[in-house]
Amino acid sequence: MAAEKLAVIGTGYVGLVSGACFADIGHQVVCVDRDAAKIERLRQADIPIYEPGLEELVRRNMEAGRLRFTGDTAEAVCAADIVLIAVGTPALASGDVDRSQVEAALAQVAASMNIGTLVVIKSTVPVGTARWAETFLRERLTQPVPFAVASNPEFLREGSAIHDTFHADRIVIGADDPAVAARIAALHEPFGAPVLITNRETAELTKYAANAFLATKISFINEMANVCDKVGADIADVAAGIGMDRRIGPHFLQAGVGYGGSCFPKDTKAQLKIAENVQYDFRILRATIEVNRLQRERFVAKIAEALGGTVRQMRVAVMGLAFKPNTDDLRDAPAIDIIRMLQEEGADVRAYDLVATERAARELPGVAMFDDAHAALEGADVMAVVTEWDAVKRLEPADIKRLLRQPIVVDGRNAFDPQRMAAHGLRYVGMGRGATNGKNRQTDLLV
Ligand code: UDX
Repeated sequence: MAAEKLAVIGTGYVGLVSGACFADIGHQVVCVDRDAAKIERLRQADIPIYEPGLEELVRRNMEAGRLRFTGDTAEAVCAADIVLIAVGTPALASGDVDRSQVEAALAQVAASMNIGTLVVIKSTVPVGTARWAETFLRERLTQPVPFAVASNPEFLREGSAIHDTFHADRIVIGADDPAVAARIAALHEPFGAPVLITNRETAELTKYAANAFLATKISFINEMANVCDKVGADIADVAAGIGMDRRIGPHFLQAGVGYGGSCFPKDTKAQLKIAENVQYDFRILRATIEVNRLQRERFVAKIAEALGGTVRQMRVAVMGLAFKPNTDDLRDAPAIDIIRMLQEEGADVRAYDLVATERAARELPGVAMFDDAHAALEGADVMAVVTEWDAVKRLEPADIKRLLRQPIVVDGRNAFDPQRMAAHGLRYVGMGRGATNGKNRQTDLLV
């Protein structure tokens, strides 16, 4: 692999993690952000997001002289052979994708780009964006220098972003010129992942397809869990049973309060809109989104039912605020909606999270925040599990029983073994754990 000079525009999850990982495999990387305060922090290796291992990775590569940060896009683009665009693409009120940050980045690239610069779009963007970007750049160039625009969507997960980059399932490259595709493939070579080369539109759509499919898998298992509740079956065993079928696979079959985060909610809605814009009604995806919304309501209803019909004047300990463990990200976190619903229905809510309480406090007035799980449980009428942090999963049933005012656990992530909870005198309500209550689980022996 030849070491390349890279400029990465945007230091969010995708930009910062990819930039640091590309530096780690030997490339020369400059990360750019228009937020001067953020750049100042990053220069001190002070990482603005909670991502395990990232600080060490950034520090190591800064010290090795392969990674630096600047607020000056022109300077970074001038010095680069490859420019990665990794800015945010939030949703507009219409449901369409807001490409304004991509456009602003491209305008700056056009002003300082070299001969032969390769512009790679990593942000999740609607089909046609790379082609549009090429026209946009061409129209703005002061001199007609050759350049190329390619698509290279990012599939990393928050909380395991570095691992996902170094152990990627695949690299998807969308480029019209085989030489351009080969260069992007070479850039990734040390990661050792299989490479799929296709045209730009296909690469762009592949990203949405992946997220839409995974979200659908989650909503499917959640609907299955709801049926389990009604017929007395256990969703954990159903998931294990279907997951052993290689055509289905065991991943993303964890029933619960549904998906959240910065990607699935946004990208599923964007894909629905992209289809609508070409007069296609993407029915499955519409149902996926609706099921995910309802799942949060169902969880609140389960808490009320467990408490005898209402949460009014009940003290509810919500365990976990971040949309999933190992992140402090609260974007579209199920806990936010759930807590608001509980408050509307008159509950006294207290919440635990390992890292997100400070941020959450701003969004959730009236909630007592705890970064100690035991303290959150003390005197509560019910423990409601929303995020399966290790610190929550490791809670001892005996301690839960001792701390709670009423021995009730409503587990929105199926993080506990129903039988073990029952053995300690706790009334346990899971998501689709049915009447089997975890008994006779033969699958544990098989997997
Ligand atoms: C996701 C995609 O996995 C990643 O490829 C893409 O680049 C960005 O979006 P991320 O949002 O970081 O990554 O989280 P992920 O681990 O995929 O989980 C998303 C949500 O689904 C979480 O709220 C999680 O709790 C939920 N989930 C996941 C389930 O409810 N059940 C499951 O079985 C799996």
